[in-house]
Amino acid sequence: MEKEQRDYKAHCLVFPYPSQGHINPLLQFSKLLDHKGVKVTLVTTRFIYNTMYKGSCCTALETISLEAISDGFDEGWKTQGVSIQAYLESFWKVGSQNLFELIEKLSGSGCPVDCLVYDAIMPWPLDIAKKFGIVGAVFFTQSCAVDNIYNHVNKGVLKLPLTDSEISLPGMLPLEPLDLPSFLSDFGSYPAYFEVVVGQFCNVDKADWVLCNTFYELEEQVVDWLAKFWPVRTIGPTIPSNYLDNRLKDDKGYGVDLFKSSNDACMKWLNKHPKNSVAYISFGSAAQLGLEQMEELAWGLKRSKSKFLWVVRESEAAKVPEGFIKEIAEKGLVVSWCSQIEVLAHEAVGCFITHCGWNSTLESLSLGVPLVAMPQYSDQSTNAKYIKDVWEIGVKAQPDEKGIVRREEVERCINEIMEGDNGKEIQKNAMKWKDLARKAVVDGGSSNRNIDEFIATLVKH
Ligand code: UDX
Repeated sequence: MEKEQRDYKAHCLVFPYPSQGHINPLLQFSKLLDHKGVKVTLVTTRFIYNTMYKGSCCTALETISLEAISDGFDEGWKTQGVSIQAYLESFWKVGSQNLFELIEKLSGSGCPVDCLVYDAIMPWPLDIAKKFGIVGAVFFTQSCAVDNIYNHVNKGVLKLPLTDSEISLPGMLPLEPLDLPSFLSDFGSYPAYFEVVVGQFCNVDKADWVLCNTFYELEEQVVDWLAKFWPVRTIGPTIPSNYLDNRLKDDKGYGVDLFKSSNDACMKWLNKHPKNSVAYISFGSAAQLGLEQMEELAWGLKRSKSKFLWVVRESEAAKVPEGFIKEIAEKGLVVSWCSQIEVLAHEAVGCFITHCGWNSTLESLSLGVPLVAMPQYSDQSTNAKYIKDVWEIGVKAQPDEKGIVRREEVERCINEIMEGDNGKEIQKNAMKWKDLARKAVVDGGSSNRNIDEFIATLVKH
């Protein structure tokens, strides 16, 4: 009912790549647009539409329209023995035809589409926006530092394989090769992903807007550098509103989970523990740990002085050492998924052992929770470098010569954050960044101003 009654300023089609780490920031951005009077249609694949768990955590979700299109794999592609290349090609071919038809259908409705906000991972929707003469806004889900690095590769300025021991790029501190995204430092390790991450920049020069899930104060210099070339606007952190500005009613979670959550059990368990006494561990929605790493991590958690809450996705569960769950029953809880943002916001949580996915990094930073960085692949090593050396909100767990973070190191890092002098300094910094993140999204803040400007130009268009 409400959808028809509202007098919308404009209509945005928002199109995330269908994975948790991409849906979350674009969905959160959609809620903000909706709140500010823009009609939003969120587009996902039929597979995600049919398998996702939809929460009722925010009233904005009730007014966002959800549309499903086929990507050629309505039963999912990961169980079909298909390579990521084959999937992405299918998505491009089948998905672009279907996205085109969806915009055409909506054009004939009472509320035609004014703007297509698309995930940078899929650059092809920009051509569709151009065909319809609507605004094309690319949305980057990674940090601007990482975007800057990939763009230098795309332009051929940063040559691969890397030969220098120090990489200096404008707007950034000097980096060692291992601080760069793994697809560059370990060139050739995942050729298909390499093509995707560098391909994000193939047509960015033609986009009307370049929206980045970060905030200006967090990445000032690199944002200023990128803004010399593109209409960059920082619009983050895209964190559920209850934790930052309280702008949206009842917004305490993203609202869409691709995994079945045991959140109630987590909250019940956390409620029993005192302030800052629990270490939370999660490696996001995609990273897979090797068997040896999983064992070392498990025994490291047992050795540390803190209680712990560990998310082990169902697909990773067989790697948990035999007998571990029983042995740690008094000390820890292992679940297959939770509402991470709610867990991080719980006062019992005192540190986050993380793979440093960009969403996890921003969530922890926005909630003032110190980090133990254990990057696995992709952009995570660059995020870890910034966590430790630029924002100073965490420590980095050092792997041995085999690339494994040993149990003693896991224990050392947790104890350092929870009890060490360095931990106190890190906690102070974490609170500083939490405050700056909040300031960016409240009225008058840098991200909020950028979003208002973006909407104002849509209205004119
Ligand atoms: C990936 C990349 O790592 C990231 O850098 C990129 O920008 C997006 O895709 P992912 O590896 O899944 O994402 O990690 P992350 O970016 O941290 O996103 C995971 C999301 O899942 C977070 O928003 C987190 O809150 C959520 N989550 C994770 C849960 O809600 N529950 C859990 O139990 C674990």
